[in-house]
Amino acid sequence: MSMMWAGRFSKEVDSKVNAFNSSIAFDARMYRQDIEGSIAHATMLGEQGIISMSDSLELIGGLKEILDDIESGKLEFDSNAEDIHMFIEAELTKRLGDVGKRLHTSRSRNDQVALDIRLYLRDEIKEIRLLIKQLIETLCKIAEQHADTIMPGYTHLQRAQPITFGHHMMAYAQMLLRDIDRLNDTERRMNVNPLGSCALAGTTYNIDRFRTSSLLGMTEPMSNSLDGVSDRDFCIELASALSVCMMHLSRFSEEIILWSSWEFKFIELDDAFSTGSSIMPQKKNPDVTELIRGKTARVIGDNMTLLTMMKGLPLAYNKDMQEDKEAIFDAVDNIKLCLVTFIPMLDTMTVLKDNMRNSAAKGFINATDCADYLVKKGMPFRTAYKITGGLVAMCISKNTTLEELPIEDYKQQSELFDNDVYTAISLDTCVKERKSYGGPAPEKVTEQIELTRKKLEELYNG
Ligand code: ARG
Repeated sequence: MSMMWAGRFSKEVDSKVNAFNSSIAFDARMYRQDIEGSIAHATMLGEQGIISMSDSLELIGGLKEILDDIESGKLEFDSNAEDIHMFIEAELTKRLGDVGKRLHTSRSRNDQVALDIRLYLRDEIKEIRLLIKQLIETLCKIAEQHADTIMPGYTHLQRAQPITFGHHMMAYAQMLLRDIDRLNDTERRMNVNPLGSCALAGTTYNIDRFRTSSLLGMTEPMSNSLDGVSDRDFCIELASALSVCMMHLSRFSEEIILWSSWEFKFIELDDAFSTGSSIMPQKKNPDVTELIRGKTARVIGDNMTLLTMMKGLPLAYNKDMQEDKEAIFDAVDNIKLCLVTFIPMLDTMTVLKDNMRNSAAKGFINATDCADYLVKKGMPFRTAYKITGGLVAMCISKNTTLEELPIEDYKQQSELFDNDVYTAISLDTCVKERKSYGGPAPEKVTEQIELTRKKLEELYNG
């Protein structure tokens, strides 16, 4: 195949180099954005009198036809083409002859590709944001159903204090709200226009970069042509925002894996979202969540690939930067796969309320409340803490719990104890009274759900 730059070269490029160099296998997915960018460019060239109005219109018509033909399957990508940009330009020239050759006036693939990735990722961010929104809505729904479902809260994976399942779900909703906020922020910095930076040094033509920006729905042209073609911060920012979101999904997955084990039995996943074993008939495995935990590693890896790929590059474009696409596309594809599966998996899981409550009832989860009981009767907290520690030790030696320990044993430790201690340390009281702002009490969970829905509305529209 004769290359675009054949004039300068005396030999054809080695076929191995051609295959090695080519990116069409993974950048063809940007065809729509490439055409959108070219239409804006051709429009501006015509308006500025850089090419004739009729050539501009012909180019736009030709580009639209190519788009239709790709979408209808009439036009297939040529795997020998160097990349999607060359492919579309060559196809345009094939169709329009000399007019097609005018499209690349005052443009380089360097600003073209920088633009295409921004436009492509801008669309992907919208999809991912919508999925995260759906996940938050699902969490709010589950939290509503379980605002008063008592479960143990953990630190060090040791039973710590009682909380509600709704409270636990809403903790993840907060993380995901921040994820949307991070995506909004990434999108804001991504949505600026590198087109017109040309190869690196702008152009001598009288182009209008503000016009292409507004045609493309971008806020403004990037203000330095060298930076315009060299910058991939937006890929790194997106990969980083996605890594954080995956890390959240991974922690959630880890909890679901624990909760669905026989040791916990807090939840049961729907059969449609579990898998069996090829040898052990009793097994029901939480493969989906394990795969999400595993895929988190690869999204974090994508982020690392991008940072490492960029860190030694002199300005401006270097071919190394072609590697950006596989990394960021992988991150985007995988988080979508995860979210699409995770949402219905959560939505269909069964919450085993009684098991959660039974686990909360053991393990001295109300010890802090026992100490607080003494504090509320005037004792300094440290003293109360020590006395309660003694009571716990006594319960352990007598193989009983604080709820069942006789009042005489309490009184032996402190005269402040009375029969009302049993109400004070009952699980229901422990949870109901934890009504500090952001706390696990059912009324507070309901409040958090409302706030979260409001915040989601703001962030999603904002
Ligand atoms: N396929 C290339 C990439 O993805 C397009 C830019 C090529 N520019 C160049 N000067 N070789 O980065």
